[in-house]
Amino acid sequence: MGRVFVAGSINMDVVATAERHPQVGETVAGSAVLYFPGGKGANQAVAAANLGAKTTLIGRLGNDAFGAELRGFLQAQDVDVSLIAQTGQHTGTAIITLANADNTIVVIPGANGLVSPDDVTQAALAEGDVAVSQFEIPLPAIKAFFRKARVAGSLTILNPAPARACDWELLDLVDILVLNETELGLLANIKLREDDEIAHIIDAARTLETDRARVICVTLGSRGVVALAGGEHHVIAGRKVKAVDTTGAGDCFVGALAAQLASEATLHDALVYANAAASVCVQRMGAAPSMPTVMDVNEALRPEL
Ligand code: ATP
Ligand code: RIB
Repeated sequence: MGRVFVAGSINMDVVATAERHPQVGETVAGSAVLYFPGGKGANQAVAAANLGAKTTLIGRLGNDAFGAELRGFLQAQDVDVSLIAQTGQHTGTAIITLANADNTIVVIPGANGLVSPDDVTQAALAEGDVAVSQFEIPLPAIKAFFRKARVAGSLTILNPAPARACDWELLDLVDILVLNETELGLLANIKLREDDEIAHIIDAARTLETDRARVICVTLGSRGVVALAGGEHHVIAGRKVKAVDTTGAGDCFVGALAAQLASEATLHDALVYANAAASVCVQRMGAAPSMPTVMDVNEALRPEL
């Protein structure tokens, strides 16, 4: 059984809930302000650890109250925090507005912006391990991490979120891309809408394929996920649930997929499992605290009698 190493961001999510999102220039009355551990790296690491993978998170926190709280939270979730350094910059913070289960997010990277190639190459990656990263830490650190993973014979998973342009030097180091329609549209340079037909999404994803065996998973929110692997594609329908907060759904999917692949599940089984895990996550408030356990996912996957 391999381990999961996540190089990524750690944030305190400051969440304002309201009945609807304000328009630009408008003020609306909110109902609550909540503090949740978050950040794409932390969320993915917690998801993988909750689902049974030995998981190490590589990142940076500030020397402040949020930093201390987040480190304690991650330890309590059984995430190995030995490669999380403390820096002079403030801990990453995300300001989130949540209304009708959907969010808008402003991320202030702080310490996450200082994650360096030296930080990530300390990970003792080995064959059979899974290396995971996203776009909330600097690109040179992600490249160094994946180069090390390639040399070690580990599988690499990139979640290119939040959406930003990147070069083929990085994409060539990736075995599995997990991205939503917005991120796919940006990388493929194709206009995509949330309700686009699956065939159109598959055509767009094909433009990111390379000679190397690469898997491209496009998460489609409540519609589920479609994945291209070689000549085949897998379509996994979204599960019918009542979403209360979709923050971290994509992260849950990535962490669950990594944990499954580290335990040598087939790609199809891993996709079905990750889709079920993410459907549990959206039924709970918050990002990292909403990540499901093995029991939760088994319950979701149990056939109805
Ligand atoms: P976020 O940025 O909010 O973390 P994302 O845009 O990266 O999300 P989505 O495609 O919205 O990711 O969701 C990821 C996965 O979560 C989906 O592929 C699906 O498995 C699950 N999911 C999301 N929303 C729902 C929903 N409303 N009902 C059931 N499953 C959902
Ligand atoms: O993907 C969700 C995460 O994005 C939140 O937890 C927030 O911290 C932002 O990084």
